[in-house]
Amino acid sequence: HSIHVVTHPLVQHKLSKMRDKETSSTNFRRLLREIGLLLGYDATRDLPLVERDITTPIEAMKAPLLEGKKLVIVPILRAGLGLAEGIIDLVPLARVGHVGLYRDPKTLQAVEYYFKIPQDISDRDVIVCDPMLATAHSAIAAVDRLKESGAKRIKFICVLGSEQGARAFAEVHPDVPVFAAAIDAKLNDHGYIVPGLGDAGDRLFG
Ligand code: PRP
Repeated sequence: HSIHVVTHPLVQHKLSKMRDKETSSTNFRRLLREIGLLLGYDATRDLPLVERDITTPIEAMKAPLLEGKKLVIVPILRAGLGLAEGIIDLVPLARVGHVGLYRDPKTLQAVEYYFKIPQDISDRDVIVCDPMLATAHSAIAAVDRLKESGAKRIKFICVLGSEQGARAFAEVHPDVPVFAAAIDAKLNDHGYIVPGLGDAGDRLFG
């Protein structure tokens, strides 16, 4: 299935800093933003280009520019907001949608509390982001809703996945490639990734 683990040394270094419990919330926020930019760089490799006429100070030329409609970035609230910052740094003209989901601590099912996305999403490339892909219930629910709303070309960016979550996500949404800095082996009984990096939302927002 289409899981891309981004092995770039800067990504791996930043991830290790994020995992470290001694990392402050200020630094965690900064690292999440930086890693978002680097993961976003990898996930946008295949955006189509088109040759357009421009004029340099020296002469006219045809130059490659992004084709088509603006990208839509969709963070899953709350922790996805921190990751989206970095992707927005990379594609400043992107539209931004928001999907609010919390994970019921007992059932681990994703419960939706907010959904607002730009219009004509069916013509646009969509990047959904959330630092954690644990059981994948949240990611699956977010992509389900985006597909219901007409989204056709979707990618998912996370910092850390679990093997179980990556497998579950690929089974339900095989057409949605996943970009991650690492996939950890285990999930504990509370649905936390092990060794993981803790609760991304809490580490970001306190
Ligand atoms: C966490 C995390 C993901 C989700 C991952 O969010 O930020 O959204 O759980 O778990 P899953 O793959 O098992 O669904 P949480 O529900 O704690 O909300 P928060 O981001 O608002 O803290």
